[in-house]
Amino acid sequence: MTTASAIPELAQFTIGFDQRDRAPLHALIDEVLDSNRWSEASMTDRFEAAWEGWNQAPAVALSSWAGGALAALHYAGVHGATVLCPSNTFMATPLAAIHAGAKVEFVDCNREDLCISFADFEAKANRHKPRAAFLVHIGGHIAFDAQRIAEYCAANDIFLIEDCAHAHGASWNGRKAGTYGDAGIYSLYATKTISTGEGGVLVSKRPEVLDHARAFRNYGKPSFEVQGLNFRMSELTAALGLVQIERLPEIVAWKNEAAREHLDPRYPSRLELPGGMVSGLYKYIVFDWLERSTGRVYDQPCHRIMGSDAELPNSDWVARNHSCVPLYYHPETGPGEPASRDGEAAS
Ligand SMILES: Cc1ncc(COP(=O)(O)O)c(C=O)c1O
Repeated sequence: MTTASAIPELAQFTIGFDQRDRAPLHALIDEVLDSNRWSEASMTDRFEAAWEGWNQAPAVALSSWAGGALAALHYAGVHGATVLCPSNTFMATPLAAIHAGAKVEFVDCNREDLCISFADFEAKANRHKPRAAFLVHIGGHIAFDAQRIAEYCAANDIFLIEDCAHAHGASWNGRKAGTYGDAGIYSLYATKTISTGEGGVLVSKRPEVLDHARAFRNYGKPSFEVQGLNFRMSELTAALGLVQIERLPEIVAWKNEAAREHLDPRYPSRLELPGGMVSGLYKYIVFDWLERSTGRVYDQPCHRIMGSDAELPNSDWVARNHSCVPLYYHPETGPGEPASRDGEAAS
């Protein structure tokens, strides 16, 4: 059995925060403090504009991923309807649909990418006639079947929500996560590739979805036609988000270089990406069982957690046959440095 023999620096968890951003962040926070506007003001606008610049789609900042997911599900009108959801995901995904009043039908994944399978998606869509569906980009790469599923959903009037909680920095031939479906939802939780501690971002190319999300995060203001709640992001959080999104391309480049230099030569059983795809490398996934690792992306598929007897063989297989090698951002050492210092990496 192989061990997760990562370079020690890479294996030590750090939040993807660059110390060079400390002083600029303090200046932004001072700006917010002095403004006497700690919510619903210009820092949120600046954060959203910067996110759009990176993501190639307009963005709505939220206090959580869940707020964005609920806004999208609410727009899609899933109450009393069916939502398709991969089983190989975090429980947040099916629970959001359940809380929006939907019935969840689970879909199997591919073994190659851990993401939802087009073949099973098509079969389940034919059987259950869903109102909406989730496509989850597991691990930091784009789901390999994203394009086919997006085309199928567009042709069959299924509202497609991309769960981009892992997908910061992911692209395929330059196209970013969140631009395949009707909406994409990012998490800014404390362990993500970039983070604000807590927070979320909804992106969409559809102005009516963006308007709905803006109203949904703010109790339906100004017209109160949308029955939302409070999912606003504070101006202080937006300041942190602003320095983080501006640093994202460098973090992703750093992680990719560190993976190429130090991990790829050691892990021939790693997940292979198709041509033109860039992973943000939230997780470095290998099809092996490592003694020392950050564990599995998920130990159990959601249908098992929820006691469903659905037959989803690939979701069960994936849970038993992969591990994650730790790979955390350490800009102070540089992606190429640890091995040249150690000569041979520790195991
Ligand atoms: C796939 C997936 N979806 C949704 C979420 C929920 O994000 P948050 O914890 O920010 O609410 C997570 C969190 O880790 C996740 O991994």
